[in-house]
Parts: sequence; C-alpha cells; structure tokens
Amino acid sequence: MIDHEAPLPPCNFVIFGATGNLASLKLLPALFRLERAGRLPEVLNFIAFGRREFDNASWREYVRDLLKQCCPVEAPAETMARFVARFDYVRGDQDDPAAYELIKETLAKPKLGVCSHVVFYLAIKPNDFPGVIKNLDKAGLNRPRGLHRIVVEKPFGTDIESARVLNELLHRHFDESQIFRIDHYMGKETVQNLLVFRFANTLIEPLWNRNYIDHVQITVAESVGIEQRADYYDKAGAMRDMLQNHLMQLLTLVAMEPPPALEADAMRDEKVKVLRCIRPISKGSVHAHAFRAQYKAGGIGDEQVPGYQDEPGVEAESVTETFVAAKFYIDNWRWRGVPFYLRTGKRLKEQMSMIALRLRHPPQQLFRETPLEALEPNWIVLSIQPNESMHMELHAKQPGLDMTTHMVRLNASYRGTDDQPLDAYEALLLDVIEGDHTLFIRFDEVEWAWRVVDPILKYWSRERDFIHTYPAGSWGPLEANRLFDAEDTEWRNKV
Ligand code: BG6
Repeated sequence: MIDHEAPLPPCNFVIFGATGNLASLKLLPALFRLERAGRLPEVLNFIAFGRREFDNASWREYVRDLLKQCCPVEAPAETMARFVARFDYVRGDQDDPAAYELIKETLAKPKLGVCSHVVFYLAIKPNDFPGVIKNLDKAGLNRPRGLHRIVVEKPFGTDIESARVLNELLHRHFDESQIFRIDHYMGKETVQNLLVFRFANTLIEPLWNRNYIDHVQITVAESVGIEQRADYYDKAGAMRDMLQNHLMQLLTLVAMEPPPALEADAMRDEKVKVLRCIRPISKGSVHAHAFRAQYKAGGIGDEQVPGYQDEPGVEAESVTETFVAAKFYIDNWRWRGVPFYLRTGKRLKEQMSMIALRLRHPPQQLFRETPLEALEPNWIVLSIQPNESMHMELHAKQPGLDMTTHMVRLNASYRGTDDQPLDAYEALLLDVIEGDHTLFIRFDEVEWAWRVVDPILKYWSRERDFIHTYPAGSWGPLEANRLFDAEDTEWRNKV
C-alpha cells in the first residue's frame, strides 16, 4: 500500500457522467471532502464531461449548490472557491468522437499546472463503457500506454461471458496497470480495518477457522429503494448489483489467508484463492443455496412506499429480485463445513451492514443443571454501516448468589463520536491518483465471482413467472430461512 502522507502527483481528472447519479451522490462530495481535508494535490484539474448545458461558470455554481446540500459540515469559503475553480466543463455526447477532441483541447491547457497523468473516471451506465473506451482510443487519449488511468465502476459485465468481453475490450485499449476496477466497499473503513483486526492481533486469528466458527453472516441491508435507477436495476437485480461484487468482496476479506505482504497482487492472490475454493453450485442445488424476493408496498418508519413493480420505469410483472440470500461453502483447510450466509436487499427495515461470526458452543455442557442450560452463542460482530464498530459478545456471571449470566460486549470500536466518518470513495480516489491497485479488483476476482453466482442466475432466468415477496420495511421473507443448515440459526438483524 502506498503511503498517503506523501504528496500526490499533479493530475488531470476527467469525469464521464459528471451530471449523473453517481457523480452527484458519491464522487463530487468525496472529492470535496478531500479538498476540505487538504488532501488534494495543488495541481489537480477536474474536467466534468456531460451532455447538459453548462459552461464553466454555471457548472461551478451547480457544484457549489450540490455540495451545500450534501456536505452539511461548513467549509471555509476559500476551500469551496479553490475546489470549484479546479473544474472545467466540457459539453458533449460521449458517443460523438468530436467531443473527445474538446476534452483533448482542455487537457492541453491545464489551468493549475502541468500534470503527469490523466484519470478517466467512467461514472456512466455499464452499457456505455465500450463506446467511451473506444472513443478514448480514437482520440489517442489512452496513450502513452501505461500512463493514464481508467476507472471502471461495477457491475463488471452481467455474467462471466460479458465480463470477459468487457475485459478483452479494455485490454485492447489500456494496459492492466492503467485499469482500476472499483468496488467502493473495498474503501470502507471497517472493511480495511478487518485486515488489521485479523492480522495485527494474536488474539483473533487462532479463532478464525472451522474449529471455532459455527457460521458467518454478511448482511448489507438498505432501507432505500431503487432511486430512479429502474432502467439499470430492473435488468441487474440484487445479485448483480450487490452480491456478486460488494458482498463477495467482504466474503473474501473475511475468509482469506494472510497475504505475504501488503501489496496489491499479494492481497488479490489471496482473495482469488478464496473464490476458487467456493464449492460450485449445481443446477440441482440452487434452491438450497440461494433465495430471491421482491418488495411489495409497505412502511419504512412513518413513510409509506410503493412496491417494486409500481416504481417508475420498472417493467410490469417484473421478477427482478430486490432481495437475495445465499449460502456458500469454502472448501479449504480453514473453512470446510462452515456456511457463509450472505444477504442483501432494498427497502428493508433499516440501513445496516455488518459481518457477524457466530462461534461454536463450548464442547462441554458444564452448566447443564443450571439456569444457563441453553447458553446463547458467542459472536464477533463488525458493523460497517451506519456506525463502524467491532465487538465480541461473551458470557459473564451476573453478580449475586445465582448462577445466571449476562452477555457482555468487548468493544473494540475505534471511532470517537466526534470523528468524521470517511466515505469509501475518498480513500479509493486518492489511491487512483497515486496509482495504488491494492483495493481495486483484478479481473480474475471478477471472473471467479461470476463463476460462483452464474449458475444461480442461469437457473433464475428460467423461472420467469414467480418470485417471493416481502413487505417494504420488513427484514425480508421468512422463507429465506430455508438456507440455514441448523435449526438454531437465524438472521442477525441487530449490531
Ligand atoms: C451500489 C449499488 O454499488 O452500492 C446501489 O449499485 C447501492 O444499489 C449502493 O445502494 C450501496 O452502497 P453504500 O455505500 O450506500 O452501502
């Protein structure tokens, strides 16, 4: 990993889809927060590229307004002024080669100083990747090969075949060292802290295996719906949108062996080994390993929300899943026999993501004749959202004459209440500018992850007339419990 304290190289940063959802919700706020924290290099020119009618002045005004709404912490006026002054707006159609000549002209006269390289950030719909990649090449913007960088958002393909096609296309026009496949979950603080928790403490690692862990649950629950993204989401569904990438990445970090060094390829080699050891799901076992469902109308807090099929832009009778639960086995020495339960969904009761490891019961039932007969199991819980925290749940005796216990939490939370949480994009954007691939996804990870979920998707694609449902505001359908191996297992919904 690169030392983030070192000064960043001067850089041009071109945002495709600058007026879109991702740029407004994630990218621009993250870049601004980096500005506020004094982490951007002095020479960093942004070029916002989009179809909407802006000139430089009106675009800068637009950015100001946007940031006032989404970054409530006050920033000094000069910070905002410095940030917006970094931008040029280039108006054009990404399918039109002439627009790339305009980008080239703007790059040729950088405002703040000469840059060593350009980052092209594709904050656009996956269907538009190929056109933009080819046009960048036509305009010579991918050259010299090996220098400039291209950032590609997930989902990378829609199945293993399309992922390979996209990858070949990228390699025709860019070298692997230029390609940054981003999965923003890799930039989340808890996710990175998981590595420290596991590999910097002697206490944890001896427990982290099939001898002590009963099962692992990875939950990414969202209370939001599909947010005007029906055209993308209705074709993708929760499996492609979340599980194949974000949840699979979490799984690899939980399950991987310690890498020999904190280097990009060493880390990614270990993650790939995990994916390769996931037991393939045969056609006949899809039902036992995966479950999908879709939300119906319901209430989230005080708000009544429509069902998925009534969201604008969703096809009538759509059977796209907005909830998916899956069970995987990792057949290696560390994890054989330990189920990994993954679950994610939209319009669930709460916005909550966590990794929870349930430990096995003690081998001896020493407390059989006491009120402790049915001891609750121990857990190790890492909360990712809304609050980052880590704790272990252990039994301790209640003070007094009776043999009763209560659960105590060994809390390893590391964020003070006043600390501003980092957004995942902030760390990753710095990495792209610096050229550190450690937290980005190598193609073999993408490919192996598709190999795991493809059989499920293929099977579902043939079941086009039925999908389970759950009311918005619930924790998903009870039928998802059918995946559990043991009767005493249930989804953990609370951190
Ligand atoms: C994106 C998905 O990758 O991640 C969205 O496309 C989802 O559907 C989002 O809402 C969740 O990210 P976060 O950081 O809010 O958990």
